[in-house]
Amino acid sequence: MNNTSTQWGWLAKSFHWVTALMIAVIVPVGYVMTSTYELQVTNQQMLAVNIALSKIHHTLGLLILIPVVLRLGWRLKQTTPDDPPGLVAYQRVLAKLNHVFLYVLLLLVPLSGWAALSVFGELPIYFFWMEGVPGILPKLPLGHTFGYSFFGRMHAYAIYVGGVVLALHIIAALWHHAVKKDSVLRRMWPLAQP
Ligand code: HEM
Ligand code: HEM
Repeated sequence: MNNTSTQWGWLAKSFHWVTALMIAVIVPVGYVMTSTYELQVTNQQMLAVNIALSKIHHTLGLLILIPVVLRLGWRLKQTTPDDPPGLVAYQRVLAKLNHVFLYVLLLLVPLSGWAALSVFGELPIYFFWMEGVPGILPKLPLGHTFGYSFFGRMHAYAIYVGGVVLALHIIAALWHHAVKKDSVLRRMWPLAQP
């Protein structure tokens, strides 16, 4: 369960891959959800689709905060595997920065989505079949500086930034494996030994 100087423990690996899997579902659902939101204005059938996708999107988006927060707590308590040998200083800094950005986005993205619906105050926030999730901020008028469009845009832009940061993260993981041929990917891979 514990991390060692050479391996991520099963708990840290589970947090990592559960989070990644949830993101892989939430993002496409988010895009389809917003497109059906626009279509439902002219097509009533789209309303039911939009509601179903919103339920999935909100529920998974709120649930992801659990592994993210637990993961951060666990990480602060635990030792982490050593950097692989042969990395120069700037590569270590880039790796750290990449991970810090990912953690910030893992909090900012769900919280900004939740905040957008909270300040809007007219749409339900779903959790499974329930629709009474309380807001994290008070309702504000539509044109307000910190109204829906402020947090809605923050949500959408953070996802674009997240896409770039994540692409770099995946390229780096593959670079370690295929070019550097070190254990970085294997020590995070489910069930693999370094
Ligand atoms: C890690 C968690 C989340 C991810 C990755 C995510 C991802 C996305 C994506 C890809 C979109 C489409 C953006 C676009 O059309 O430009 C979106 C839209 C949206 N999401 Fe999320 N979302 C997350 C969590 C949440 C949560 C927790 C809520 C609310 C409870 C939420 C509410 C919304 C809303 C209201 C929109 C429409 C924003 C707009 O375009 O005005 N999201 N999300
Ligand atoms: C949404 C998807 C993902 C997110 C949010 C994410 C996030 C993170 C974060 C925050 C860390 C830092 C762990 C720490 O030091 O506490 C990490 C480590 C890692 N990730 Fe990801 N990751 C994702 C997807 C992936 C994918 C698809 C791969 C493989 C292709 C991958 C490979 C790795 C590896 C190998 C490490 C360990 C790095 C090391 O040992 O120093 N990740 N990930």
